[in-house]
Amino acid sequence: MEFIQQLKANAKAKKQRIVLPEGLEERTLQAANTVLEEDFAEIILIGNPQAIKDEASRLNLSHIDKATVIDPERHDKIESYRDFLYELRKSKGMTLEQASELVKNPLYLSVLMIKNGDADGEVAGADNATGDVLRPAFQIVKTIPGISVVSGAFIMILKDKEFGENGILIFADGAVHPDPDADQLADIAVASAMTAKSIVGIEPRIAMLSFSTKGSAKHPMVDKVVEATEKAKKINPDLKIDGELQADAALIPSIGSKKAPGSEIAGKANVLIFPDLQSGNIAYKLVQRLAHAEAIGPVLQGMAAPINDLSRGCSVSDIVNLIAITANQAAGTLK
Ligand code: ACO
Repeated sequence: MEFIQQLKANAKAKKQRIVLPEGLEERTLQAANTVLEEDFAEIILIGNPQAIKDEASRLNLSHIDKATVIDPERHDKIESYRDFLYELRKSKGMTLEQASELVKNPLYLSVLMIKNGDADGEVAGADNATGDVLRPAFQIVKTIPGISVVSGAFIMILKDKEFGENGILIFADGAVHPDPDADQLADIAVASAMTAKSIVGIEPRIAMLSFSTKGSAKHPMVDKVVEATEKAKKINPDLKIDGELQADAALIPSIGSKKAPGSEIAGKANVLIFPDLQSGNIAYKLVQRLAHAEAIGPVLQGMAAPINDLSRGCSVSDIVNLIAITANQAAGTLK
């Protein structure tokens, strides 16, 4: 796919160190091998070095020897990372004993490496639930200044080119924050605009979705979307954003002009912001399955370092693609 090829070429020009905490997971190891063969990122695998070597040989992976392997049980920085973690989290009740255990957990170790400048980005989740991947990142890396929540965008590539930007749409939040308030929803819109620009290379036209268009229904859920739209405009007055809009008014010009006359977004949206995680997650899965769209992501946005989570049902190429995206984020396109 053209979009991913472009990301790989960008990544290759500015090679980043991507840490994979699930170093023994079969699809992850195969993806690491592909990345090393295509040479668009440096790979750090967390796991027992001998076990990784044996698994690579069993799977016939001839490029894994180019990866850096970190044994979570013994490496040079184990004590300094432990002390760092303890100092960072002691006010939240973490003891030194807990820090000593957590520092050996690959999901914590990877984030500690990034925070200490020893890696540039992380991809995980082939073997771990979303919450377990995200929690260490939330605790240690936190959000970028000015953004209160991390959220997850999906880059939806539709077969039908008439929608969005030549068939490409950004959906958010589809992965992380269950029930955003108006401030958080505004931040999700602002972060999604950054993702649209820097990862997908499109000028964002953002629709704040609801079951109402421009006052057609009255409800506190609608009020939240209207308030979030206003707040997002205040955060970034240059943002092209409108709401509240129904999905058809956002996407289809004839309906947009009828339901929201004069709107510069209605009928032309390429970024769809959903009012909560239930609607966002359901929507992306429906479009993926019913319209046979490709769903790339979730691309985590708003985090102070590029850390991305896979679905446990992911394929090897999903992992390779997410490493390409993460490497682009790490290269400075979006931090
Ligand atoms: N952004 C930034 N920080 C956050 C966020 C967020 N969205 N949510 C929680 N945090 C921070 C908190 O501020 C807190 O920080 P602190 O300890 O320094 O004070 C820390 O993370 C832990 O907060 P909790 O409220 O205890 O969060 P918890 O760990 O219970 O939940 C989690 C966070 C796991 C991400 C939760 O929001 C969740 O389960 N979300 C849904 C994920 C999911 O299942 N998605 C669907 C599947 S993905 C898919 O389909 C591809």
